[in-house]
Amino acid sequence: MNLTRNDFPDGFQFGVATSAYQIEGRDFGGCGPCHWDSFAATPGNVVRAEDGAVACDHYHRLDEDLDLVARLGADVYRFSTSWARVIPEGRGAPNPEGLDFYDRLVDGLLARGIKPAATLYHWELPQPLADLGGWRNRDIGDWFADFTETVMARIGDRVWSAAPINEPWCVGWLSHFDGHHAPGLRDIRATARAMHHILLAHGRSIEVMRGLGMGNLGAVCNFEWAEPADDSADSAAAAETYDAIYNRFFLGGLFRGEYPAPVLAGLEPHLPEGWQDDFATIGAPLDWLGLNFYTRKLITKGDGPWPHYAEVEGPLPKTQMGWEIEPAALTRFLIRAARDYTGDLPLYVTENGMASANPFDDPDRIGYLSDHLEAVRAAIAEGAPVAGYYVWSLMDNYEWSLGYEKRFGLVHVDFETLARTPKASYHALASWWRTED
Ligand code: FCB
Repeated sequence: MNLTRNDFPDGFQFGVATSAYQIEGRDFGGCGPCHWDSFAATPGNVVRAEDGAVACDHYHRLDEDLDLVARLGADVYRFSTSWARVIPEGRGAPNPEGLDFYDRLVDGLLARGIKPAATLYHWELPQPLADLGGWRNRDIGDWFADFTETVMARIGDRVWSAAPINEPWCVGWLSHFDGHHAPGLRDIRATARAMHHILLAHGRSIEVMRGLGMGNLGAVCNFEWAEPADDSADSAAAAETYDAIYNRFFLGGLFRGEYPAPVLAGLEPHLPEGWQDDFATIGAPLDWLGLNFYTRKLITKGDGPWPHYAEVEGPLPKTQMGWEIEPAALTRFLIRAARDYTGDLPLYVTENGMASANPFDDPDRIGYLSDHLEAVRAAIAEGAPVAGYYVWSLMDNYEWSLGYEKRFGLVHVDFETLARTPKASYHALASWWRTED
């Protein structure tokens, strides 16, 4: 990599990201069951029906893993807190061991000079709440506010930044319309309610954290650049709908107090009554926006009922996930987010990275990261206020419905022995992240 810290603005933050269920091991420390456990136990949902029972055993290897973050020279470590670990029943009594774990995590980061960036929810909904309808139930706003209070009363005084929910599109659409993630529903009404309640819960959580006196609060959304697959008017309309569902629903809700018309065309009849009244809560002012960015999509007209779009396989080189590599799409998205929604608000690329089958020597990942860091520089040069960039992920981990097969780590994990081995990409980043100038 030819980049140095000097190529980025003063104070630019470099980091790595992980999430609780993907690394910790839910069999340990009094963690309760979550909807990913039951989803994974249902045949056909997850490759080899793998789950997060042990994952990377991070729960027992916390210090070893934080040392890896420190040796990488990362400024920030983005992690998530497991609701099922902190409150096994979802509501009510906290699990002291769970809170102690996140306390040790935050102190361990601070002791190593690393900024803790917390995300409250990265997908492990406690099973008792899933049984009550999960994200379809409006009460989740209250449940999530209480969970926020429980976690942040303990660690909120020491985290550097915090965000309520990782990737509302995945929690809402991917999980309730596409059925690819827990709870695996394919239902338009469930989708509409979940999408709205996620944003409502986000707003409630922000209110709670402000009430605790916390600052540096943001939202973390995943975005994709949607392009029409050809010059036809049908493809243009389909790409616009895709963009509205994937990107503008969340940007619009958070920053404009409105949902885009192409989404309302399908979801409005299914939204909960009085949904417009919730924008006052949803739009609580934020200190930054986090963008998780991996790829672009080519879109054309699809058969069947709304939303009338279909993805087309693109011609660009692809990662192990089959995702096209298009760094310029990141540049375009950062510029667009600032221009149309967030203005001067700092933007952070809160996840970016690639799955690669190369176990240790991963020049493809080094190339991907270099090109996307260049794409971030290009956006900054155009005036987008990008303030940080975090790699997904510190180490190979549980890649949801793809089990342990897809490897996103800078550090290789042997899932038999759980041994960690830094890859070439880890060393490449460390060689310039560790320099001070
Ligand atoms: C994101 C998720 C993260 C991981 C990466 C590859 O959508 O936030 O947990 O699965 O994709």
